[in-house]
Amino acid sequence: MNKITIKGGLTINGEIFSSGAKNAVLPILAATLLAPGDCKITNVPHLHDVTTMNQLLIQMGARLTYDQHKGILINCSDITKPEAPYETVKTMRASILVLGPLVARFGQAKVSLPGGCAIGARPVDIHIAGLKAMGAHIEVRDGYIYASCDRLKGNRIVMDKVTVTGTENILMAATLAQGETVIENAAIEPEVVDLARFLTAMGAKIEGAGTSKITVTGVDTLKATAHQVMPDRIEIGTFLVAAAITGGAIKIHNNCHGELDAVIDKLKEAGADIESTPDYISLDMQGKRPRPVDIRTAPHPAFPTDMQAQFCALNAIADGTSIITETLFENRFMHVEELKRMGANIKVEGHQAIIQGVQQLSGAPVTATDLRASASLVLAGLAANGSTEVHDIHYIDRGYEAIEEKLNQLGAQILRG
Ligand code: EPZ
Repeated sequence: MNKITIKGGLTINGEIFSSGAKNAVLPILAATLLAPGDCKITNVPHLHDVTTMNQLLIQMGARLTYDQHKGILINCSDITKPEAPYETVKTMRASILVLGPLVARFGQAKVSLPGGCAIGARPVDIHIAGLKAMGAHIEVRDGYIYASCDRLKGNRIVMDKVTVTGTENILMAATLAQGETVIENAAIEPEVVDLARFLTAMGAKIEGAGTSKITVTGVDTLKATAHQVMPDRIEIGTFLVAAAITGGAIKIHNNCHGELDAVIDKLKEAGADIESTPDYISLDMQGKRPRPVDIRTAPHPAFPTDMQAQFCALNAIADGTSIITETLFENRFMHVEELKRMGANIKVEGHQAIIQGVQQLSGAPVTATDLRASASLVLAGLAANGSTEVHDIHYIDRGYEAIEEKLNQLGAQILRG
């Protein structure tokens, strides 16, 4: 069951609906810890990472039910165990997002250090520094973060690096702190803005979400509320590449209009016709082979690192040479060796991949190493000549809801098992 087999050489054509954003729903679920009562979160994608976060919250004492319309009803009135154990955190780094809410509402937390992952060391020093600046007493020992504080105090916090979950952790903590917190050099990703929308609906006082300076005026309590999760712009981008790499056409409903412009610009440069509206986004490659495009990843609104592996696959069959530069993570080219097994001509030098496009990839057995690497192997398999087996496919289920069902609906032939 941990592999899928892809029949190559077919064209992706048709319409699908996007799912809710993984990187928005995870901080939003963590934020439900900030208030007692029933929160109703809708447009929740059915992903392994969401299941992991839900299990973590239930272990703490949350009560949670799913409804049949991709909704979650979660009640964090009775959190009795403000802890995130190693067994859970090691499987999902985003578990660190419970740290800020736990300290802010319960005055204590015991959260396992996430440790590294396939794409890099991924430290949480900036998360910890921010909470310390707000008065939290923090001890790191035996692989755990022990945090405590009677009540956090607002402060001016300059983030050493732009960090998405770091910004989200400090933002959540600041909502219940005493006084004003100013977060400088904050991440401006759309998922941070979606979290801020939810927090504001809970009664938080936040200004500047979506800019690099966020100001939060702490309140004494927050209230449970409802929220619809934003569309997943990385899923949308991945499916746009699926159509582009096979010379096809796609229309994706529930668009993330205006939040994927750097990716859309690169797809247009590669030769795609694209129309984006508030309701849908459509791409037509008109059977053409993609032109090579140079990519340099950087924080939003620049080209997202989560789309880098997908563009390695697209450039692998482009009619020329391209360079992809990964500036955020130190080891995010693990998909390259697997793409080379399929005939790709790619050379990695430090933070750069130099890609000589080839006319045709060949199907082969390959192995996924991380979430977005697995997506790039699926995309390559769609375009390759012959059949591709992607092993360790469980990585893809962490971030893509029913990916083979959606692709098969668009003309692919993918079998799991
Ligand atoms: C978020 O990870 C996303 N995950 C990642 O998506 C995404 O790739 C990343 O942001 C960049 O956009 C979620 O939102 C759940 P960072 P995050 O903190 O917050 C360094 C996917 O595929 N850093 O923005 O963990 C870090 O090492 C995943 O969906 C520190 O040095 O990433 C990296 O070089 C993968 N100290 C840079 O900042 C810290 O305390 C950006 O990392 C925190 C981060």
